[in-house]
Amino acid sequence: MDRLSSLPGLHLLVNLSPPYRLAILLVSTLLVAKIVSALFFRSAQKKPPRVRTWPLIGGVRKFMKGPINMLREEYPRLGSVFTVKVLHRNITFLLGPEESVHFFKAPESELSQQEVYQYNVPTFGPGVVFDVDYSVRMEQFRFFSESLRVSSLKSYVQHMVYEAENFFTKWGDEGIVDLKSELEQLITLTASRCLLGKEVRDQLFQNVSDLFHDLDNGMLPISVLLPYLPIPAHRRRDKARKQLAEIFSNIIQNRRASGKKEADMLQAFIDSKYRSSGRYLSDNEITGMLIASLFAGQHTSSITSTWTGAHLLHKQFLGPVLDEQREVMSRHGDKLDYDILAEMDVLYRAIKEALRLHPPLILLLRYSHKDFVVKNREGNQYTVPKGHVVATSPAFANRLPYVYKDPDSYDPDRFAPGREEDKAAGAFSYISFGGGRHGCMGEPFAYMQIKTIWSHLFRNFELELIPPFPEIDWDAMVVGPKGKVMVRYKRRALTALPIS
Ligand code: HEM
Repeated sequence: MDRLSSLPGLHLLVNLSPPYRLAILLVSTLLVAKIVSALFFRSAQKKPPRVRTWPLIGGVRKFMKGPINMLREEYPRLGSVFTVKVLHRNITFLLGPEESVHFFKAPESELSQQEVYQYNVPTFGPGVVFDVDYSVRMEQFRFFSESLRVSSLKSYVQHMVYEAENFFTKWGDEGIVDLKSELEQLITLTASRCLLGKEVRDQLFQNVSDLFHDLDNGMLPISVLLPYLPIPAHRRRDKARKQLAEIFSNIIQNRRASGKKEADMLQAFIDSKYRSSGRYLSDNEITGMLIASLFAGQHTSSITSTWTGAHLLHKQFLGPVLDEQREVMSRHGDKLDYDILAEMDVLYRAIKEALRLHPPLILLLRYSHKDFVVKNREGNQYTVPKGHVVATSPAFANRLPYVYKDPDSYDPDRFAPGREEDKAAGAFSYISFGGGRHGCMGEPFAYMQIKTIWSHLFRNFELELIPPFPEIDWDAMVVGPKGKVMVRYKRRALTALPIS
């Protein structure tokens, strides 16, 4: 005690009477506890670093230069978690497999889609997807997933094969085509047959395509901020949506009256019932769900088909894909069906790699309803506040050099057994189809469709990409190759490998 009392201040404490001493000890203990907890809490409450911008419009300018440009600039400076202010919104980016775990796994009560994808409501129409409560949306997503299960996919593949064979009969013996535009047309026909149904494909194709075109052109960058702005493109969109509702209402009534069932998504929706109420979907809901699936699947698939072709025709990976076709043909002949396409692993990896380099959906968004803590790659812990828009980017995260070797090079073998680079750093290393709670439901459909097209092309044509290799059109809402993608073709039959 003597030694202690010689320390400055402590002698005062020692000389006090016991009740005062106890009170002071108590107060000082509480004080120390408070300081420690404040220090600790402050570090846990630290907000993510911010992109430095000019006030008010600075973030908009950075964003308008292209979000990927911004991410490339800021990631080396700020790390894998940071916030940018765009107008009144704080957008916090989580970039990387570890950082984005919460993005993909959080329940809807913590991170939701509804607020950030609201701009789709006038296009999809009322009463569906982002215009309904989460419980109804979950039921509607169940209808999507049931309409895309393997038993349905098997019959969709028959339509895909028919459409591809039919489409390419119009090519001559040799010639030059814009691959991008050709594949867009083919995928519109196929999607129309598999999703919208026989009536649209056979009788109303042009009419319905024109209306979808108006819907498409009504989805502009400005529509994301102001979806109801009274501009001509939005007026045409709203008119087209109404006309589509009338067309589908007629088709649905005729199908119901005839009692005939078709193998398409329209039929799956006609037959679907809400578990909560036991009611069938209304005609308007069916129309909205069909529009939503076309928007989810059409551009994304046609863009991916084009990139796959551009990469395969440009580099050394065509050989193994052709060998695989020959090998499959030696066992099944010319036939293509679901099971045969499922055997094509080399082609699968070629498509997957094109999609790693060129995911058509470059930003995925959520709205944060609750503060949450995230750690960046450098080990710093940040609290992302409630009210932030939370974003991740397949276009950026799919090329992280600590996940993928030579991330900018096209190398389908990186997914082959023994390498599997998409598995080493965690579940969310490859996010072209999103993942977790809202992972793409159309992924198997998309692969089947793209495999069908390229199997048919490789079996029947010799193809050559005419330079230059396409650039990326970062300005598009669904990002694809810029301009035309010219290809020279010559008809020829690929011969099967001799059976050994
Ligand atoms: C290459 C083609 C495709 C790509 C790259 C793609 C990509 C994606 C991505 C990234 C998401 C997640 C969005 C998010 O997390 O915010 C998604 C969701 C979805 N996709 Fe796809 N998609 C493709 C094809 C399709 C097709 C063909 C369909 C249907 C026919 C489809 C239906 C859906 C649906 C219904 C969802 C919502 C899932 C949910 O929120 O639970 N997609 N897609």
